[in-house]
Amino acid sequence: MSGYTALILAAGKGTRMKSELPKVMHRVAGETLVSHVTTTALEAGAEQCVVVVGHGFDLVVKELEQKNVDVVIQHEQLGTGHAVMVAEDNLPDEGDVVVLCGDTPLLTASTIINLRGQHAATGAAVTILTTELDNPFGYGRIVRGGDGRISKIVEEKDATEAEKTVCEINSGVYCFAAKPLKRALQELTCDNAQMEYYLTDVIPAIIRDGGEVGSYMTRDSSEILGINDRVQLALAEGIMRRRITEELMRSGVTIIDPALTFIHRLAKIGKDTIIYPGVTIEGASVIGRACVLRGSSRIMDCHIGDDCELEASVLLSSQIGDGVKIGPYAYVRPGSHIGNHVKIGDYVEIKNSRIGNGSKVPHLSYVGDADVGEGVNIGAGTITCNYDGVKKHRTIIGDNSFIGSNSSLIAPLVVGENSYIGAGSAISKDVPSGALAVTRNPQRTLENYHNRSKK
Ligand code: UD1
Ligand code: CA
Repeated sequence: MSGYTALILAAGKGTRMKSELPKVMHRVAGETLVSHVTTTALEAGAEQCVVVVGHGFDLVVKELEQKNVDVVIQHEQLGTGHAVMVAEDNLPDEGDVVVLCGDTPLLTASTIINLRGQHAATGAAVTILTTELDNPFGYGRIVRGGDGRISKIVEEKDATEAEKTVCEINSGVYCFAAKPLKRALQELTCDNAQMEYYLTDVIPAIIRDGGEVGSYMTRDSSEILGINDRVQLALAEGIMRRRITEELMRSGVTIIDPALTFIHRLAKIGKDTIIYPGVTIEGASVIGRACVLRGSSRIMDCHIGDDCELEASVLLSSQIGDGVKIGPYAYVRPGSHIGNHVKIGDYVEIKNSRIGNGSKVPHLSYVGDADVGEGVNIGAGTITCNYDGVKKHRTIIGDNSFIGSNSSLIAPLVVGENSYIGAGSAISKDVPSGALAVTRNPQRTLENYHNRSKK
Protein backbone atom coordinates (compact mmCIF):
# COMPACT_ATOMS: atom_id res chain seq x y z
CA MET A 1 0.00 0.00 0.00
CA SER A 2 1.22 3.52 -0.83
CA GLY A 3 2.02 6.06 1.86
CA TYR A 4 -0.51 8.44 3.29
CA THR A 5 -0.78 11.63 5.30
CA ALA A 6 -1.71 11.34 8.97
CA LEU A 7 -3.49 14.33 10.47
CA ILE A 8 -3.46 14.18 14.25
CA LEU A 9 -5.86 16.46 16.13
CA ALA A 10 -4.27 17.35 19.44
CA ALA A 11 -5.25 20.94 20.25
CA GLY A 12 -7.85 20.26 22.92
CA LYS A 13 -7.31 21.26 26.54
CA GLY A 14 -8.62 18.18 28.24
CA THR A 15 -10.51 20.03 30.99
CA ARG A 16 -11.44 16.81 32.78
CA MET A 17 -7.80 15.89 33.33
CA LYS A 18 -7.72 18.77 35.88
CA SER A 19 -4.14 19.40 34.94
CA GLU A 20 -1.67 22.14 34.15
CA LEU A 21 -0.38 19.94 31.33
CA PRO A 22 -2.13 19.78 27.97
CA LYS A 23 -3.98 16.48 27.75
CA VAL A 24 -1.80 14.91 25.07
CA MET A 25 1.30 15.43 27.26
CA HIS A 26 0.06 12.92 29.82
CA ARG A 27 1.78 9.55 29.62
CA VAL A 28 0.75 5.96 29.08
CA ALA A 29 3.44 3.33 29.57
CA GLY A 30 5.96 6.14 29.92
CA GLU A 31 5.26 7.77 26.56
CA THR A 32 3.10 10.86 25.97
CA LEU A 33 -0.28 10.34 24.32
CA VAL A 34 0.71 12.43 21.31
CA SER A 35 3.93 10.47 20.92
CA HIS A 36 2.04 7.16 20.94
CA VAL A 37 -0.28 8.34 18.19
CA THR A 38 2.51 9.72 15.98
CA THR A 39 4.60 6.56 16.48
CA THR A 40 1.60 4.44 15.44
CA ALA A 41 0.84 6.65 12.42
CA LEU A 42 4.43 6.33 11.21
CA GLU A 43 4.42 2.58 11.91
CA ALA A 44 1.32 2.29 9.70
CA GLY A 45 3.26 3.86 6.81
CA ALA A 46 2.53 7.59 7.06
CA GLU A 47 4.71 9.55 4.62
CA GLN A 48 3.75 12.79 6.26
CA CYS A 49 2.45 13.45 9.73
CA VAL A 50 0.69 16.74 10.51
CA VAL A 51 -0.15 17.45 14.14
CA VAL A 52 -2.64 20.19 15.08
CA VAL A 53 -1.69 21.63 18.47
CA GLY A 54 -3.29 24.36 20.54
CA HIS A 55 -3.49 24.25 24.34
CA GLY A 56 0.02 24.36 25.78
CA PHE A 57 1.42 24.10 22.26
CA ASP A 58 4.94 25.10 23.31
CA LEU A 59 5.23 21.89 25.35
CA VAL A 60 3.71 19.75 22.61
CA VAL A 61 5.93 21.29 19.93
CA LYS A 62 8.98 20.54 22.10
CA GLU A 63 7.80 16.95 22.62
CA LEU A 64 7.50 16.44 18.86
CA GLU A 65 10.84 18.12 18.00
CA GLN A 66 12.68 14.83 17.53
CA LYS A 67 9.94 13.33 15.38
CA ASN A 68 9.53 13.79 11.68
CA VAL A 69 6.22 15.71 11.84
CA ASP A 70 4.77 19.05 10.73
CA VAL A 71 3.09 21.04 13.47
CA VAL A 72 0.18 23.43 12.87
CA ILE A 73 -1.08 25.69 15.63
CA GLN A 74 -4.83 26.09 16.15
CA HIS A 75 -4.94 29.15 18.40
CA GLU A 76 -8.68 28.94 19.09
CA GLN A 77 -10.29 25.50 19.40
CA LEU A 78 -13.47 25.92 17.38
CA GLY A 79 -14.07 22.21 16.83
CA THR A 80 -12.67 19.16 15.07
CA GLY A 81 -13.73 20.51 11.65
CA HIS A 82 -11.97 23.78 12.39
CA ALA A 83 -8.82 21.88 13.40
CA VAL A 84 -8.74 20.22 9.98
CA MET A 85 -9.43 23.54 8.23
CA VAL A 86 -6.45 25.10 10.02
CA ALA A 87 -4.23 22.30 8.67
CA GLU A 88 -5.68 22.34 5.16
CA ASP A 89 -2.70 24.02 3.49
CA ASN A 90 -0.41 21.29 4.88
CA LEU A 91 -2.50 18.51 3.37
CA PRO A 92 -1.81 17.05 -0.07
CA ASP A 93 -4.30 17.41 -2.95
CA GLU A 94 -4.12 13.71 -3.82
CA GLY A 95 -3.88 10.48 -1.84
CA ASP A 96 -5.25 9.45 1.55
CA VAL A 97 -5.53 11.62 4.63
CA VAL A 98 -6.09 9.61 7.81
CA VAL A 99 -7.48 11.76 10.64
CA LEU A 100 -6.47 10.56 14.13
CA CYS A 101 -7.03 11.96 17.62
CA GLY A 102 -4.11 12.82 19.85
CA ASP A 103 -5.86 11.33 22.86
CA THR A 104 -6.36 7.73 21.61
CA PRO A 105 -3.05 6.03 22.38
CA LEU A 106 -4.39 2.48 22.04
CA LEU A 107 -5.18 2.59 18.32
CA THR A 108 -2.90 0.13 16.53
CA ALA A 109 -1.04 0.41 13.26
CA SER A 110 -2.79 -2.71 11.98
CA THR A 111 -6.20 -1.07 12.42
CA ILE A 112 -5.04 1.96 10.42
CA ILE A 113 -3.72 -0.40 7.74
CA ASN A 114 -7.03 -2.35 7.67
CA LEU A 115 -9.01 0.90 7.48
CA ARG A 116 -6.92 2.03 4.52
CA GLY A 117 -7.21 -1.39 2.91
CA GLN A 118 -10.98 -1.24 3.04
CA HIS A 119 -10.92 2.38 1.81
CA ALA A 120 -8.81 1.41 -1.21
CA ALA A 121 -10.92 -1.67 -2.01
CA THR A 122 -14.22 0.22 -2.03
CA GLY A 123 -12.99 3.43 -3.66
CA ALA A 124 -14.96 5.45 -1.10
CA ALA A 125 -14.39 9.17 -0.60
CA VAL A 126 -14.22 8.55 3.13
CA THR A 127 -14.10 5.42 5.30
CA ILE A 128 -15.03 5.90 8.94
CA LEU A 129 -13.57 3.72 11.69
CA THR A 130 -16.50 2.65 13.83
CA THR A 131 -17.15 0.27 16.69
CA GLU A 132 -20.16 -0.95 18.67
CA LEU A 133 -20.45 -0.04 22.32
CA ASP A 134 -22.92 -1.32 24.92
CA ASN A 135 -22.97 2.18 26.31
CA PRO A 136 -22.45 4.64 23.43
CA PHE A 137 -23.14 7.70 25.62
CA GLY A 138 -21.10 10.74 24.65
CA TYR A 139 -19.95 9.48 21.27
CA GLY A 140 -21.13 10.54 17.81
CA ARG A 141 -23.63 7.95 16.47
CA ILE A 142 -23.47 6.49 12.97
CA VAL A 143 -26.83 7.16 11.33
CA ARG A 144 -27.74 4.87 8.40
CA GLY A 145 -30.58 5.19 5.90
CA GLY A 146 -33.06 2.45 4.97
CA ASP A 147 -30.52 1.06 2.46
CA GLY A 148 -27.95 0.63 5.25
CA ARG A 149 -25.74 3.40 3.89
CA ILE A 150 -24.34 6.00 6.27
CA SER A 151 -26.14 9.31 5.94
CA LYS A 152 -24.54 11.28 8.76
CA ILE A 153 -22.90 11.23 12.18
CA VAL A 154 -24.84 12.89 14.97
CA GLU A 155 -23.26 14.10 18.22
CA GLU A 156 -24.79 13.14 21.58
CA LYS A 157 -25.88 16.72 22.22
CA ASP A 158 -27.63 16.98 18.85
CA ALA A 159 -29.13 13.48 18.73
CA THR A 160 -32.83 12.62 18.81
CA GLU A 161 -34.02 9.96 21.29
CA ALA A 162 -34.11 7.42 18.44
CA GLU A 163 -30.55 8.30 17.34
CA LYS A 164 -29.31 7.95 20.93
CA THR A 165 -30.25 4.25 20.87
CA VAL A 166 -27.73 3.56 18.08
CA CYS A 167 -24.76 1.60 19.43
CA GLU A 168 -22.49 1.99 16.40
CA ILE A 169 -20.28 4.97 17.16
CA ASN A 170 -17.78 7.19 15.40
CA SER A 171 -14.26 6.55 16.67
CA GLY A 172 -13.07 9.93 15.42
CA VAL A 173 -10.68 8.18 13.02
CA TYR A 174 -11.32 8.44 9.30
CA CYS A 175 -9.55 7.72 6.05
CA PHE A 176 -10.37 10.46 3.52
CA ALA A 177 -9.49 10.88 -0.11
CA ALA A 178 -7.82 14.31 0.05
CA LYS A 179 -9.81 15.95 -2.75
CA PRO A 180 -13.40 15.37 -1.53
CA LEU A 181 -12.27 16.21 2.05
CA LYS A 182 -10.96 19.60 0.93
CA ARG A 183 -14.12 20.29 -1.08
CA ALA A 184 -16.39 19.36 1.86
CA LEU A 185 -14.42 21.57 4.30
CA GLN A 186 -15.57 24.63 2.30
CA GLU A 187 -19.16 23.94 3.36
CA LEU A 188 -18.66 23.53 7.14
CA THR A 189 -20.65 25.79 9.45
CA CYS A 190 -21.03 25.87 13.23
CA ASP A 191 -24.80 25.57 13.24
CA ASN A 192 -25.21 23.00 16.07
CA ALA A 193 -25.71 22.59 19.82
CA GLN A 194 -22.04 23.29 20.63
CA MET A 195 -21.57 26.12 18.06
CA GLU A 196 -18.51 24.27 16.80
CA TYR A 197 -17.22 23.29 13.37
CA TYR A 198 -17.81 19.51 13.47
CA LEU A 199 -15.57 17.41 11.27
CA THR A 200 -18.44 14.91 11.20
CA ASP A 201 -20.46 17.39 9.11
CA VAL A 202 -18.20 16.73 6.12
CA ILE A 203 -19.99 13.36 5.77
CA PRO A 204 -23.32 14.74 4.39
CA ALA A 205 -21.31 17.27 2.33
CA ILE A 206 -19.37 14.43 0.72
CA ILE A 207 -22.61 12.58 -0.02
CA ARG A 208 -24.12 15.70 -1.65
CA ASP A 209 -20.97 15.94 -3.74
CA GLY A 210 -21.59 12.38 -5.02
CA GLY A 211 -18.93 10.68 -2.88
CA GLU A 212 -19.28 7.23 -1.27
CA VAL A 213 -19.13 6.98 2.53
CA GLY A 214 -17.89 3.67 3.86
CA SER A 215 -17.08 2.30 7.28
CA TYR A 216 -14.71 -0.20 8.83
CA MET A 217 -15.75 -1.63 12.17
CA THR A 218 -13.19 -2.68 14.74
CA ARG A 219 -14.33 -5.34 17.23
CA ASP A 220 -11.77 -4.31 19.80
CA SER A 221 -13.41 -1.16 21.10
CA SER A 222 -10.58 -0.60 23.57
CA GLU A 223 -8.52 0.62 20.59
CA ILE A 224 -10.58 3.75 20.23
CA LEU A 225 -10.64 4.61 23.95
CA GLY A 226 -10.16 8.36 24.14
CA ILE A 227 -8.50 9.64 27.30
CA ASN A 228 -10.62 12.34 28.93
CA ASP A 229 -9.78 11.93 32.61
CA ARG A 230 -7.25 10.19 34.83
CA VAL A 231 -9.45 7.16 35.36
CA GLN A 232 -9.32 6.49 31.62
CA LEU A 233 -5.61 7.27 31.68
CA ALA A 234 -5.08 4.46 34.20
CA LEU A 235 -7.32 2.16 32.16
CA ALA A 236 -5.25 2.83 29.04
CA GLU A 237 -2.04 2.34 31.05
CA GLY A 238 -3.18 -1.13 32.07
CA ILE A 239 -4.21 -2.13 28.54
CA MET A 240 -1.04 -0.74 26.95
CA ARG A 241 1.21 -2.43 29.52
CA ARG A 242 -0.58 -5.74 29.02
CA ARG A 243 -0.11 -5.46 25.26
CA ILE A 244 3.59 -4.72 25.62
CA THR A 245 4.26 -7.52 28.10
CA GLU A 246 2.16 -10.04 26.15
CA GLU A 247 4.08 -9.32 22.97
CA LEU A 248 7.37 -9.79 24.82
CA MET A 249 6.19 -13.02 26.49
CA ARG A 250 5.11 -14.38 23.09
CA SER A 251 8.55 -13.57 21.74
CA GLY A 252 10.25 -15.63 24.47
CA VAL A 253 10.74 -13.33 27.45
CA THR A 254 9.62 -14.59 30.88
CA ILE A 255 7.77 -11.95 32.86
CA ILE A 256 6.96 -13.30 36.29
CA ASP A 257 4.20 -10.79 37.06
CA PRO A 258 3.20 -8.62 34.07
CA ALA A 259 0.97 -6.38 36.20
CA LEU A 260 3.99 -5.30 38.23
CA THR A 261 6.41 -4.88 35.34
CA PHE A 262 6.77 -1.55 33.54
CA ILE A 263 8.18 -1.74 30.06
CA HIS A 264 8.04 1.00 27.47
CA ARG A 265 6.81 0.26 24.01
CA LEU A 266 10.12 0.84 22.24
CA ALA A 267 12.18 -1.47 24.47
CA LYS A 268 13.63 -4.61 22.88
CA ILE A 269 14.35 -7.69 25.00
CA GLY A 270 15.98 -10.96 23.95
CA LYS A 271 14.78 -14.55 24.38
CA ASP A 272 15.00 -16.35 27.71
CA THR A 273 15.48 -13.19 29.67
CA ILE A 274 13.60 -13.40 32.97
CA ILE A 275 12.05 -10.30 34.47
CA TYR A 276 10.93 -10.28 38.10
CA PRO A 277 8.28 -7.91 39.49
CA GLY A 278 9.23 -4.30 40.08
CA VAL A 279 11.45 -3.85 37.05
CA THR A 280 10.99 -0.70 34.92
CA ILE A 281 12.53 -0.57 31.45
CA GLU A 282 12.28 2.84 29.86
CA GLY A 283 13.01 4.50 26.55
CA ALA A 284 14.51 2.65 23.64
CA SER A 285 16.44 0.23 25.84
CA VAL A 286 17.81 -2.97 24.33
CA ILE A 287 18.38 -5.99 26.57
CA GLY A 288 20.01 -9.18 25.33
CA ARG A 289 19.22 -12.85 25.79
CA ALA A 290 19.13 -14.89 28.97
CA CYS A 291 19.45 -11.98 31.36
CA VAL A 292 17.87 -12.04 34.81
CA LEU A 293 16.48 -8.73 36.08
CA ARG A 294 15.32 -8.62 39.68
CA GLY A 295 14.08 -6.34 42.39
CA SER A 296 13.07 -2.78 42.10
CA SER A 297 15.31 -1.92 39.15
CA ARG A 298 15.12 0.89 36.62
CA ILE A 299 16.78 0.73 33.22
CA MET A 300 16.55 3.79 31.00
CA ASP A 301 17.95 4.11 27.47
CA CYS A 302 20.53 1.37 28.03
CA HIS A 303 22.02 -1.25 25.79
CA ILE A 304 22.61 -4.44 27.77
CA GLY A 305 24.26 -7.57 26.38
CA ASP A 306 23.43 -11.25 26.92
CA ASP A 307 23.61 -13.30 30.16
CA CYS A 308 23.60 -10.31 32.50
CA GLU A 309 22.25 -10.31 36.04
CA LEU A 310 20.80 -7.21 37.59
CA GLU A 311 19.37 -6.80 41.05
CA ALA A 312 17.69 -3.74 42.59
CA SER A 313 19.73 -1.21 40.64
CA VAL A 314 19.35 1.87 38.47
CA LEU A 315 21.02 2.04 35.04
CA LEU A 316 20.77 5.20 32.95
CA SER A 317 21.89 5.83 29.34
CA SER A 318 24.77 3.37 29.44
CA GLN A 319 26.20 0.40 27.55
CA ILE A 320 26.62 -2.89 29.36
CA GLY A 321 28.48 -5.86 27.85
CA ASP A 322 27.75 -9.61 28.11
CA GLY A 323 27.83 -11.61 31.34
CA VAL A 324 27.84 -8.55 33.59
CA LYS A 325 26.59 -8.76 37.19
CA ILE A 326 25.19 -5.59 38.68
CA GLY A 327 23.82 -4.89 42.16
CA PRO A 328 22.18 -5.07 44.50
CA TYR A 329 21.88 -1.31 44.92
CA ALA A 330 24.18 -0.15 42.16
CA TYR A 331 23.73 3.13 40.31
CA VAL A 332 25.15 3.29 36.80
CA ARG A 333 24.81 6.86 35.57
CA PRO A 334 24.79 8.20 32.00
CA GLY A 335 27.74 7.78 29.70
CA SER A 336 29.08 4.59 31.22
CA HIS A 337 30.50 1.73 29.16
CA ILE A 338 30.74 -1.49 31.09
CA GLY A 339 32.73 -4.27 29.35
CA ASN A 340 32.05 -8.01 29.29
CA HIS A 341 32.05 -10.12 32.47
CA VAL A 342 32.37 -7.10 34.73
CA LYS A 343 31.05 -7.12 38.28
CA ILE A 344 29.51 -3.94 39.64
CA GLY A 345 28.52 -4.90 43.15
CA ASP A 346 26.53 -3.52 46.05
CA TYR A 347 26.33 0.23 46.75
CA VAL A 348 28.53 1.11 43.79
CA GLU A 349 28.06 4.25 41.70
CA ILE A 350 29.57 4.48 38.25
CA LYS A 351 29.36 7.72 36.28
CA ASN A 352 30.56 8.54 32.77
CA SER A 353 33.25 5.87 33.01
CA ARG A 354 34.60 2.93 31.06
CA ILE A 355 35.14 -0.31 32.90
CA GLY A 356 37.17 -2.84 30.91
CA ASN A 357 36.37 -6.53 30.39
CA GLY A 358 36.62 -8.73 33.46
CA SER A 359 37.14 -5.87 35.92
CA LYS A 360 35.47 -5.84 39.32
CA VAL A 361 34.08 -3.02 41.44
CA PRO A 362 32.45 -5.24 44.03
CA HIS A 363 31.49 -3.00 46.98
CA LEU A 364 30.79 0.54 48.14
CA SER A 365 32.71 2.53 45.52
CA TYR A 366 32.33 5.70 43.48
CA VAL A 367 33.91 5.56 40.04
CA GLY A 368 33.27 8.80 38.17
CA ASP A 369 34.92 10.12 34.99
CA ALA A 370 37.31 7.17 34.93
CA ASP A 371 38.79 4.87 32.31
CA VAL A 372 39.37 1.55 33.98
CA GLY A 373 41.25 -1.09 31.99
CA GLU A 374 40.68 -4.85 31.82
CA GLY A 375 41.10 -7.23 34.74
CA VAL A 376 41.25 -4.45 37.30
CA ASN A 377 40.14 -5.05 40.87
CA ILE A 378 38.83 -2.03 42.74
CA GLY A 379 38.68 -2.66 46.48
CA ALA A 380 35.75 -1.82 48.71
CA GLY A 381 35.24 1.85 49.51
CA THR A 382 37.47 3.18 46.72
CA ILE A 383 36.58 6.64 45.44
CA THR A 384 37.67 8.61 42.43
CA CYS A 385 37.91 12.21 43.57
CA ASN A 386 36.96 13.62 40.19
CA TYR A 387 35.86 17.10 41.24
CA ASP A 388 38.19 19.76 42.59
CA GLY A 389 35.37 22.14 43.40
CA VAL A 390 35.57 23.82 39.99
CA LYS A 391 36.28 21.22 37.31
CA LYS A 392 35.87 17.50 36.75
CA HIS A 393 38.98 15.45 35.99
CA ARG A 394 39.56 11.92 34.72
CA THR A 395 41.18 8.97 36.42
CA ILE A 396 42.88 6.40 34.21
CA ILE A 397 43.67 2.94 35.55
CA GLY A 398 45.71 0.51 33.43
CA ASP A 399 44.92 -3.18 32.85
CA ASN A 400 45.30 -5.70 35.66
CA SER A 401 45.92 -3.14 38.36
CA PHE A 402 44.86 -3.71 41.95
CA ILE A 403 43.38 -0.82 43.89
CA GLY A 404 43.41 -1.53 47.63
CA SER A 405 40.31 -0.94 49.68
CA ASN A 406 39.31 2.52 50.82
CA SER A 407 41.64 4.35 48.47
CA SER A 408 41.03 7.90 47.25
CA LEU A 409 42.21 8.40 43.67
CA ILE A 410 42.61 12.15 43.28
CA ALA A 411 42.12 13.13 39.63
CA PRO A 412 43.61 13.99 37.24
CA LEU A 413 45.48 10.75 37.77
CA VAL A 414 47.04 7.95 35.74
CA VAL A 415 47.66 4.60 37.38
CA GLY A 416 49.71 2.39 35.03
CA GLU A 417 49.15 -1.28 34.17
CA ASN A 418 49.89 -4.05 36.66
CA SER A 419 50.29 -1.57 39.48
CA TYR A 420 49.14 -1.72 43.09
CA ILE A 421 47.65 0.85 45.40
CA GLY A 422 47.95 0.06 49.09
CA ALA A 423 44.71 0.00 51.05
CA GLY A 424 43.67 3.31 52.59
CA SER A 425 45.89 5.45 50.34
CA ALA A 426 45.13 8.93 49.03
CA ILE A 427 46.83 8.89 45.63
CA SER A 428 47.40 12.25 43.93
CA LYS A 429 50.51 11.53 41.80
CA ASP A 430 50.63 9.28 38.73
CA VAL A 431 51.72 5.71 39.43
CA PRO A 432 53.96 4.02 36.82
CA SER A 433 53.21 0.52 35.51
CA GLY A 434 54.13 -2.30 37.80
CA ALA A 435 54.65 -0.05 40.87
CA LEU A 436 53.14 -0.15 44.34
CA ALA A 437 51.97 3.20 45.68
CA VAL A 438 50.94 3.61 49.26
CA THR A 439 50.30 6.70 51.37
CA ARG A 440 49.78 5.58 54.89
CA ASN A 441 51.01 6.82 58.23
CA PRO A 442 53.25 4.27 59.93
CA GLN A 443 51.29 2.33 62.47
CA ARG A 444 51.94 3.04 66.14
CA THR A 445 51.35 0.14 68.50
CA LEU A 446 51.30 0.81 72.22
CA GLU A 447 51.77 -2.38 74.14
CA ASN A 448 50.07 -3.11 77.46
CA TYR A 449 47.69 -0.25 76.74
CA HIS A 450 44.73 -2.10 78.29
CA ASN A 451 46.45 -2.50 81.61
CA ARG A 452 47.57 1.16 81.62
CA SER A 453 44.12 2.51 81.09
CA LYS A 454 42.77 0.54 84.07
CA LYS A 455 45.02 2.46 86.52
C1 UD1 B 1 -15.42 13.52 18.44
C2 UD1 B 1 -16.43 13.28 17.34
C3 UD1 B 1 -17.40 12.19 17.77
C4 UD1 B 1 -16.62 10.94 18.10
C5 UD1 B 1 -15.56 11.22 19.15
C6 UD1 B 1 -14.66 10.02 19.32
C7 UD1 B 1 -16.77 15.48 16.28
C8 UD1 B 1 -17.67 16.64 16.15
N1 UD1 B 1 -17.15 14.50 17.12
O1 UD1 B 1 -16.15 14.01 19.56
O2 UD1 B 1 -18.30 11.94 16.73
O3 UD1 B 1 -17.51 9.94 18.56
O4 UD1 B 1 -14.71 12.32 18.73
O5 UD1 B 1 -13.80 10.20 20.39
O6 UD1 B 1 -15.75 15.42 15.65
N2 UD1 B 1 -9.60 18.89 18.75
C9 UD1 B 1 -8.79 19.85 18.21
N3 UD1 B 1 -9.30 21.09 18.00
C10 UD1 B 1 -10.58 21.43 18.30
C11 UD1 B 1 -11.38 20.42 18.87
C12 UD1 B 1 -10.88 19.16 19.08
O7 UD1 B 1 -7.63 19.61 17.92
O8 UD1 B 1 -10.97 22.58 18.06
C13 UD1 B 1 -9.03 17.55 18.99
C14 UD1 B 1 -9.03 17.16 20.46
O9 UD1 B 1 -7.82 17.55 21.07
C15 UD1 B 1 -9.19 15.67 20.40
C16 UD1 B 1 -9.96 15.43 19.11
O10 UD1 B 1 -9.85 16.60 18.35
O11 UD1 B 1 -7.94 15.01 20.30
C17 UD1 B 1 -11.42 15.11 19.38
O12 UD1 B 1 -12.03 16.24 19.98
P1 UD1 B 1 -13.08 16.10 21.13
O13 UD1 B 1 -13.49 17.46 21.57
O14 UD1 B 1 -12.59 15.16 22.16
O15 UD1 B 1 -14.30 15.45 20.32
P2 UD1 B 1 -15.49 14.67 20.89
O16 UD1 B 1 -16.49 15.61 21.43
O17 UD1 B 1 -15.02 13.59 21.78
CA1 CA C 1 -13.01 13.04 22.95
